[in-house]
Amino acid sequence: MGSKTLVLGISGSPRKDGNTDVAVKKVLEIISRLRDVETVFIRVADFNIKHCRGCRECMRIGECAIRDDDFNLILEKLMEADMIVVGAPVFWSSPPGVMKDFIDRTHGFYTDPKRLLGKKVGIISVAADSGFESHEEILSWMRIYGAEIVGKVRIYAREKGEILQKPEEMAKLERFARLLAENLQ
Ligand SMILES: Cc1cc2nc3c(=O)[nH]c(=O)nc-3n(C[C@H](O)[C@H](O)[C@H](O)COP(=O)(O)O)c2cc1C
Repeated sequence: MGSKTLVLGISGSPRKDGNTDVAVKKVLEIISRLRDVETVFIRVADFNIKHCRGCRECMRIGECAIRDDDFNLILEKLMEADMIVVGAPVFWSSPPGVMKDFIDRTHGFYTDPKRLLGKKVGIISVAADSGFESHEEILSWMRIYGAEIVGKVRIYAREKGEILQKPEEMAKLERFARLLAENLQ
């Protein structure tokens, strides 16, 4: 008997309970209403993730050489997941530093470009008004390692909790979650 399909939600916002946390949680909630799946929500900012130091030791050993932080805790969950819903706010046209640190630390996956083959990814970008293009490009990094990007959504919100006051943005999340659910067997 196989275990339940796991959908992992990752928020890359440093602002707890901000628009991104709300959006990722909402999408997980809708998916679990539509499909018999297990969902897990994590905030990268709740973990101690050191900066990539650019040593490129990972190119030799296939994994990050920094081991005295929480990077591997998140990585373990990511490897278990069938689908990953990754969300981040736009900070200067890119994900915030906390999220970018996590992304940088997966550099060693280059030694096995099929590391994430079979995983499906949905991307949520949150911004006040602009900078989505380059941000989405960065948040799509898992495709380089074989994951399939099945959908992207752009949410417009600035102040904390603003997303909840915007029915059109919440409706976008509903449609997005349905699209992701269709991609789950
Ligand atoms: C340092 C910083 C940089 C930002 N840069 C942008 C930007 O380039 N474009 C934009 O539209 N909004 C920008 N914003 C606004 C955030 O994307 C917006 O407030 C978002 O709702 C924050 O999401 P959160 O509540 O999940 O943290 C920036 C906010 C901060 C704090």
